[in-house]
Amino acid sequence: MNLPGTFTLGPGDGSARTGRLTTAHGEIETPVFMPVGTQGTVKSLCPDDLRTIGARIILGNTYHLYLRPGDELVAKMGGLHRFMAWDGPILTDSGGFQVFSLSGLRRITEEGVTFSSHIDGSKHLFSPEKVISIERNLGSDIMMVLDECVPYGADRAYTEKSLGLTTRWATRCRAAHAPLDRGQLLFGIVQGGFFKDLRAESARQLIDLAFEGYALGGLSVGESRAEMYDILYDATPLLPADKPRYLMGVGAPRDLLAGMAAGIDMFDCVLPTRNARNGTLFTFQGKVNIKRAEYREDDSPLEADCPCYACRTFSKAYLRHLYVARELLSYRLNTLHNLTFFSRFMAQARQAIREGRFEAFRTAMEAAYPETDA
Ligand code: GUN
Ligand code: ZN
Repeated sequence: MNLPGTFTLGPGDGSARTGRLTTAHGEIETPVFMPVGTQGTVKSLCPDDLRTIGARIILGNTYHLYLRPGDELVAKMGGLHRFMAWDGPILTDSGGFQVFSLSGLRRITEEGVTFSSHIDGSKHLFSPEKVISIERNLGSDIMMVLDECVPYGADRAYTEKSLGLTTRWATRCRAAHAPLDRGQLLFGIVQGGFFKDLRAESARQLIDLAFEGYALGGLSVGESRAEMYDILYDATPLLPADKPRYLMGVGAPRDLLAGMAAGIDMFDCVLPTRNARNGTLFTFQGKVNIKRAEYREDDSPLEADCPCYACRTFSKAYLRHLYVARELLSYRLNTLHNLTFFSRFMAQARQAIREGRFEAFRTAMEAAYPETDA
């Protein structure tokens, strides 16, 4: 097998690319969607399920696992892979985003970010070195650097200052984790808000640090789709072509298509799993709101050609009943289906890119996921 970090590009179509990334726990075909397993579990699923539905890499959260059960406990239990019995690749986000979105009082200094736990209010410091140490204890295959995700609407002065700090933190993360150390890859995160020149500056500074991959952060934070795409199309070509590119926290099918068209290789989002628990299901015909009365007596499967256990076994009427009755099985079946859809969607996208018909695929899927209901 190739060394972890090896990224081989396959056929492309315009700026869209296919590729293969080697990690210490196996190879990933890109573009790839990573289901979110915040607390060491993709909610309601077992690792066997994840395999069956075609998930190849999952995401874990440094912030959550550090607070509970603690990264040292996870290390004692043999690392996150062994603890959660998932032997495929795992990417851990650094906490740079969760601290800002979840925790209470927080204070940013040169040293790092001090925050209070959303669980018990206790005070903690995430420094770049601390975050690397946590991610090493977790044993993830891909670690993300500590960054500040600049809030939407931040002005240029704030964004510029934050960008400097994010680069200095990235430098310290790189120093704390030398290239390919222990087979764990380290990705940098481009910030710079909605200022194109600051995005370019961030990319340049991170490229000098020779990360194994590069992410676009600070998007999908409340901006319009047009604003996000403007930055996405402008900034993606600034990332090294021979390294994996990751669009963080995105997204909806329409946004995955835009990301792939721009040349993005990796995505993550809570959308398929969170929406599953809200009764919103994704199909190649568009979204289905399973609680609607029209499905009360609908004996047909949610999606006739879907290979997932829910579609092979149950009717829409039954899925609706489980949802309305708030049965636990509803979460599980809906999650199985939605993640199966995202796997199939990405597999079809990769095939379309390889065969030089990505734009036709994109147009067809955009019809099922219109701008107003992406
Ligand atoms: N997830 C979504 N956006 C971001 C971001 O800007 N930074 C980090 N660390 N994680 C994210
Ligand atoms: Zn299904």
